Amino acid sequence: MENKFLVGASTAAHQVEGNNIHSDFWAMENMEFSNFDEPSLDAVDHYNRYKEDIDLLSNAGLNSYRFSIEWARIEPEQGKFNAEAINHYRDVLAYCHEKNVIPVVTLHHFSSPKWLIDLGGWKNPATADYFAAYSRKVVQELGTLLHYICTINEANMGIQIAAISERFKKQAMQQQTKNIQVGLNFDPEKMIEKMKKVAEENQVLFNNPKPAIFLSELGAEGDAIIIEAHKKAKAEIKKINPELKVGMTLSLHDIQAINGGEELADKEWKEEFGHYIEHIQEDDFIGIQNYTRSVIGPEGILPVPEDAILTQMSHEFYPQALENVLRRVHKELGIPMLVTENGIGIDDDRLRVRFINEALEGVQRCIDDGLSVLGYLHWSLLDNFEWQKGYSKTFGLIAVDRKTQTRYPKPSLKVLGQFTDKFNN
Ligand code: BGC
Repeated sequence: MENKFLVGASTAAHQVEGNNIHSDFWAMENMEFSNFDEPSLDAVDHYNRYKEDIDLLSNAGLNSYRFSIEWARIEPEQGKFNAEAINHYRDVLAYCHEKNVIPVVTLHHFSSPKWLIDLGGWKNPATADYFAAYSRKVVQELGTLLHYICTINEANMGIQIAAISERFKKQAMQQQTKNIQVGLNFDPEKMIEKMKKVAEENQVLFNNPKPAIFLSELGAEGDAIIIEAHKKAKAEIKKINPELKVGMTLSLHDIQAINGGEELADKEWKEEFGHYIEHIQEDDFIGIQNYTRSVIGPEGILPVPEDAILTQMSHEFYPQALENVLRRVHKELGIPMLVTENGIGIDDDRLRVRFINEALEGVQRCIDDGLSVLGYLHWSLLDNFEWQKGYSKTFGLIAVDRKTQTRYPKPSLKVLGQFTDKFNN
């Protein structure tokens, strides 16, 4: 297992399993004034169909599967662990091993138990201890079946959300003035009214008008809690089995500066990556999650070039970004890197094929230059629930007809599978 280069695909429990009823996301999706385009419901029923999905992955030649264990299932009530859920994940892990598929397990991928949010969520310092206790339980129960563990998915997401929200606020201010000038109907009162209703409903549901879910705007304090949660969980895992490989994952853009944007670009990179270095340099690996680049000029992030191909997320199609990020992280951090997510939401699967080929050429060049890259796990194995955007985005190597839950592998699945031999010979 140690020396195998991983070629695989990733999912996250809430996005694929279905009926994650004890989670914060389930509660938010079903609010009257929900921000979600639609609720997750049965998702793609991966909870019941995981064998079929792992078969498809393995038959196409992939040798690794990254998935997340759902905290809200393992611990639906604080301190009460659910044996059935633990057995379920034991079965999933055992099935991976039966199929010679190396599991990469994430302990927290955005969704949390609802009780955690009621207690103050990711702004409550005690959350680090709650997370460590849950992690300990998982590893006590399932540790012998594990090898790579990602504690927290995209630990830097709260900071990124805060930055995006700041940008939107600025734009909205500009928009407001613009609208008044051209006499368009901009009705801030209606927006404020909806926000008021959401706050009231949150107060009833979570005991808080602005619940601190993992995907909230988080400042330095929230960031520190997440780092602490990672450290404490890692310490618990290592106490049980020091052989397990532990790391966190980060969402990393290929940040490029042009014409005087250098200073801002440096600041952005430090926020997104640099300030984590001191906390993770002793980790066994870092999970790299990259989707595109962001180009920065003196005024900030520039719009995507006009001739660029846009993905469904309005990201620029830019598979070269991954190689750039790997090289930069290697230079600044120097621990082994595992690509835990990289992909595009797009209908045209030929573009996904091109994306995979070009991204993996970049990975190959990194390896040829001596960088330690443990594997490449594509996002995602299945078309799935893209959080507030619902099922409209198609990131999968496998399409799913959600009426019948029938799986339709796309050509890109096989294309990715062919890299297993290329990287392992
Ligand atoms: C997340 C996934 C998400 C993907 C595509 C990543 O930030 O980890 O959960 O579906 O991006 O947007």
